[in-house]
Amino acid sequence: MKGIILAGGLGTRLHPLTLAMSKHLLPVYDKPMIYYPLSTLMLAKVRDILMISTEQDVEKYRKLLGDGHQFGVNLSYAVQASPDGIAQAFLIGKEFIGEESCVLILGDNIFYGSNFTSKLLRAGRNADLGQATIFGYYVKHPERFGVVEYDDNGQVVSIEEKPRKPKSNYAVVGLYFYPAGAAEMAGRVEPSPRGELEITSMNEMYLKAGKLNVEILGRGNAWMDVGTVESLSDASMFIRMVEQRQGIQISAPEEIAYRYKWISKEELIKSANRYGNTSYGAHLRAVAEGKMNW
Ligand code: DAU
Repeated sequence: MKGIILAGGLGTRLHPLTLAMSKHLLPVYDKPMIYYPLSTLMLAKVRDILMISTEQDVEKYRKLLGDGHQFGVNLSYAVQASPDGIAQAFLIGKEFIGEESCVLILGDNIFYGSNFTSKLLRAGRNADLGQATIFGYYVKHPERFGVVEYDDNGQVVSIEEKPRKPKSNYAVVGLYFYPAGAAEMAGRVEPSPRGELEITSMNEMYLKAGKLNVEILGRGNAWMDVGTVESLSDASMFIRMVEQRQGIQISAPEEIAYRYKWISKEELIKSANRYGNTSYGAHLRAVAEGKMNW
């Protein structure tokens, strides 16, 4: 399975923070935003990852993440010339995906919760068996998202993008698992009235073809999409609270790589030293010394 992180767009809702800075490099408490979606793909055991960003920012991601070897993954890079829609990621990534299944994560989506990894792995297996999986999350204001509609038997009947009158409170999160052929499917998406290739249109196609699972991320799971100053600040406070209270790191890619045995102890220590005398570096050192095995 191949993975794509979409980290383009203009980040206009975060001005002036994003006037000179790429949104997905902004800090979410103690690490750049992009570490979180990267960690999610790694937890799904995806090791071939395409980073899509804007022409002006792509080099900054390359500088931060390189070829991915320190995380035990292969990272490649591509440019989205203008933000023409989320489904465009599959057209940009067509060659990269080849004949494989694929998972797309939006660069501003942060996940945290018990048993999340097993959900990711199941979605990956289903994609390899020809079924797409997206995730629904109960929110107070569904009109800001893609929204799932259920019938009386709990069957999904539609998905609507930012409906004025949402038919449920279940928002579609920015994490999409598709079987082989996702680029061809994206090629059939027509631009919406706002001129974008909508990911919701793609999900509707899988739904019509009877190939869409909608998994609920229930209570006990945290999902944040960090598109505004308020949500950026909320996410930072959430991460800080959990990390400080438990003395752990949320979404440290090097830790995930080490636990999956993709990198050696020596490589982990080398990464820890790169981060110097920070709490992030100290955490990686503690993991290498076997002090975080609970
Ligand atoms: O976060 C989940 C939501 O993401 C879903 O519920 C919606 O169905 C989906 O359309 C999307 O809605 P947003 O309003 O959050 O989309 P936004 O345009 O803010 O883009 C989300 C991220 O993707 C953002 O970090 C920028 C990036 N992006 C977006 C577009 C449209 C790109 O890199 N390129 C693009 O062309």
